Amino acid sequence: MLTRLSISSHEEVYRVEDAQAGLRGFIALHSTRLGPAAGGLRMRVYDSDAAALDDVLSLSRGMSYKNAAAGLPLGGGKAVIMGDPATDKTPELLRAMGRAIDGIGGRYWTAEDMGMSPADMAEIARATRYVAGRDQGRHASGDPSPITARGVAAAMRAGAARLWGSDDLAGRHVAVQGLGHVGWHLCRILHEAGARLSVADTDAARVATTAREFGAEAMDADAILAAQADILAPCAIGGVLNVGTIPAIRARMVCGAANNQLATPRDADTLHARGILYLPDYLANGGGIINVAAEILHVEDRAAWLEERLNEIRVRMDRILSRAAGEDISPAIIADRMVEETLLDRAG
Ligand code: NAI
Repeated sequence: MLTRLSISSHEEVYRVEDAQAGLRGFIALHSTRLGPAAGGLRMRVYDSDAAALDDVLSLSRGMSYKNAAAGLPLGGGKAVIMGDPATDKTPELLRAMGRAIDGIGGRYWTAEDMGMSPADMAEIARATRYVAGRDQGRHASGDPSPITARGVAAAMRAGAARLWGSDDLAGRHVAVQGLGHVGWHLCRILHEAGARLSVADTDAARVATTAREFGAEAMDADAILAAQADILAPCAIGGVLNVGTIPAIRARMVCGAANNQLATPRDADTLHARGILYLPDYLANGGGIINVAAEILHVEDRAAWLEERLNEIRVRMDRILSRAAGEDISPAIIADRMVEETLLDRAG
């Protein structure tokens, strides 16, 4: 069922197959240097095995960075199932994936990602205990979105302090792209903090509701990236910061929840050259994995622990922005470097 593949960039990579359950996928452990590898399970249609393998390799590496940046004692891992979650997902398939995860003996912990729900995690939990992101149970972490939004707001304050000398967001104009789970909570927090909001989503009903709830200006999904705002908060999809969009951005800062906002690493330099402060996404949105980590680590005083970790996002972001300013380079480069230093440090 688990076939180990030899891939030098990662500690352990497995092909997962269970013909009877119709399961095909991969599990990748990029690094366990800081602790057990943790990262979500994604289910989607891939064009080929190679495409699924590429995805799991890059996502698991990304989790090493995200977990280290958040100061968590967790490494980076990820799992993918090849198939359409709407039609191919069955309890048998999920339990087979659970058995595969169990076979890794706790060196990999899974949680929800695209195509998965808390109910799916509960099914997987029938076959393994190495699963988080559940709705029920003593340490269940539930929906991470409110915590993710709090982390983004904390990061935003660090950026505001650097740019404007005060972390007060009152009166700041924030353009939020994507009003889903995280985007809505972010709007709520920013509204409470006295910020002015412009909002956009491809779902017109969400735009109307959010605009009404928070007195926000509704914008076209195409126009929001170029909004005349202080801060741009991408909370929808990845790749939104690219050669096509960056020249039109008018905000002084980009800080949002979306994963992989930069289309390529070079786009961080382009933003820097334009004088736009880009706050590394994997630190800004670390609240999600912090929330899951509380479940994996069986944290008892959850609220206090989360509070402490969210404060740390702010502290780390302050440190990154200060180093980036000192060296006159993008904070994205400093963040990667700090993570790499941590990983090497712990390895030695
Ligand atoms: P979601 O699926 O609940 O919300 C995404 C929203 O973006 C939806 O309302 C959708 O209609 C909208 N959207 C999609 N394409 C758009 C476009 N081109 N322009 C404008 N709006 C568009 O997702 P969720 O959970 O709020 O996550 C948002 C982003 O944050 C994703 O990139 C996710 O990977 C990332 N993230 C989420 C975490 C969480 O705790 N939910 C944790 C860390 C990262």
